[in-house]
Amino acid sequence: MARLSGKVAVVTGGARGMGEATVRLLVEHGARVLIADVLDAPGQALADELGDSALYTHLDVSSESDWQAAIPLAETLGPLSVLVNNAAIIFQKTIVDTTVDDFMKIVSVNQLGVFLGMQAAFPALRDNGGGSIINVSSIDGLQSKNSLVAYSSTKWAVRGMTKAAAMEMGKFNIRVNSVHPGGIYTAMHGSDFMSREDADQFYQNHALPRVGLPREVAALTAFLASDEATYSTGAEFIADGGWSAGLVNDSLPQL
Ligand SMILES: NC(=O)c1ccc[n+]([C@@H]2O[C@H](COP(=O)([O-])OP(=O)(O)OC[C@H]3O[C@@H](n4cnc5c(N)ncnc54)[C@H](O)[C@@H]3O)[C@@H](O)[C@H]2O)c1
Repeated sequence: MARLSGKVAVVTGGARGMGEATVRLLVEHGARVLIADVLDAPGQALADELGDSALYTHLDVSSESDWQAAIPLAETLGPLSVLVNNAAIIFQKTIVDTTVDDFMKIVSVNQLGVFLGMQAAFPALRDNGGGSIINVSSIDGLQSKNSLVAYSSTKWAVRGMTKAAAMEMGKFNIRVNSVHPGGIYTAMHGSDFMSREDADQFYQNHALPRVGLPREVAALTAFLASDEATYSTGAEFIADGGWSAGLVNDSLPQL
């Protein structure tokens, strides 16, 4: 039997990038997936390509009413057991240049969106006997960088909300974990205009001296969605090429 057979998942931001890689991997392992995004054309095309295993819906993660419509639609594929809160937007400005409107826009998608997703999915997951919620945070939810005051605040919030939700939902056999990618070669990372070789250059002093690929993060999500991860909850799962471990120092001896 396939690793995820019988699982039904919602993947937000599933039309491209890491979300798309996650949709593809979950389906490869036997799951059926509702692709939820604001990018309707690529989202629908992906669902069409995957046939009976996927549906697409327009869902703005910051809209409570969109969430109320999406969960019953997902359940037309079968009993919901997995939610991947992957959608987010990047924003890079200093504290001085970040307006309140900028800040609240990032919070409404990256933070409120994850809260609304967990809140909307909970009754179905509980009534179906349990499941797995995977919240995509970031390396910037473990540390941060100049210019990321808004984005990073939401990624730390995702990490914190994950732990609160794990405490509340564990007794219903619902596991909640956060995934922390490092630099991954997607549109958010400039894949539209930057070659992979150029992207690799940013990571030359990392333990693994290259950019990461969407499928390398999707693999962690697939593990957390599966019954191989039944004793993992409230935890951080990192796929960052060693970024959070430290940086290679060229002035010190090395292999
Ligand atoms: N790429 C990286 O280097 C990197 C690093 C760390 C964490 N992340 C995180 O990984 C996740 C996926 O990022 P990615 O690199 O694939 O980015 P991406 O920009 O390629 O994809 C993000 C997807 O989210 C969708 N989206 C944006 N706003 C939305 C909304 N309001 N409602 C629904 N969908 C919306 C977009 O349309 C897009 O399909 C994000 O949570 C991001 O913060 C990315």
